[in-house]
Amino acid sequence: MTDYVIAPSILSANFAKLGEEVDQVLNDGADWVHFDVMDNHYVPNLTIGPMVCKALRDHGVTAPIDVHLMVEPVDRIIPDFAEAGASMITFHPEASKHVDRSLQLIRDHGCKSGLVFNPATPLTVLEWAIEKVDMILLMSVNPGFGGQSFIPFVKQKIVEARKLIDASGRNIRLEVDGGVKASNIGELAALGADTFVAGSAIFNQSDYASVINEMRSNISAATK
Ligand code: DX5
Ligand code: ZN
Repeated sequence: MTDYVIAPSILSANFAKLGEEVDQVLNDGADWVHFDVMDNHYVPNLTIGPMVCKALRDHGVTAPIDVHLMVEPVDRIIPDFAEAGASMITFHPEASKHVDRSLQLIRDHGCKSGLVFNPATPLTVLEWAIEKVDMILLMSVNPGFGGQSFIPFVKQKIVEARKLIDASGRNIRLEVDGGVKASNIGELAALGADTFVAGSAIFNQSDYASVINEMRSNISAATK
């Protein structure tokens, strides 16, 4: 039995009351907190850093915090996020000059490691990196902003990534990020994804529990 994970992206939360928003969404059935870090360099937007991650831990958040680095370079900030309470740290291979070193650095700091693939980025780097990867994150929008539409060709990439993971025999999560909502999550699960980031689809609704429940029932219906 696959355990499906729903990881709301706090990018679409109300930052003026972030602690309460995170408490609410976890209480309403979310599994992880997806934490989008943007540097106005690797992507054309600027968000939050390790201090905010630590603030959530100090606030009492115990759920896994899934840190998605959209920054360049990546290595300088990895130890800071590990110390701030990140559970897993993913980065874009284009943003690191030494992908193997960055993956090892994440692991040396006690976090799960992962690579993030933009829609047009091939999965080829995995040929020599999969041994150090706990998660593959497929972007289904170009990174930088919440609320964009799912890019359909990424569905084929989910199938490809699932094949690579199964062939490796390793325990690697397959996460999809961008334009995920209750209406497409079942199809994405059926294609082989097991971890779902959703920002606007959850935080733009007043009742988080009902969206998350709908997502879970659509996953169940599509994968039985
Ligand atoms: C985009 C971020 C996403 C984003 C998803 O660069 O990585 O995590 O918040 O937002 P939605 O679910 O609204 O597409
Ligand atoms: Zn993200």
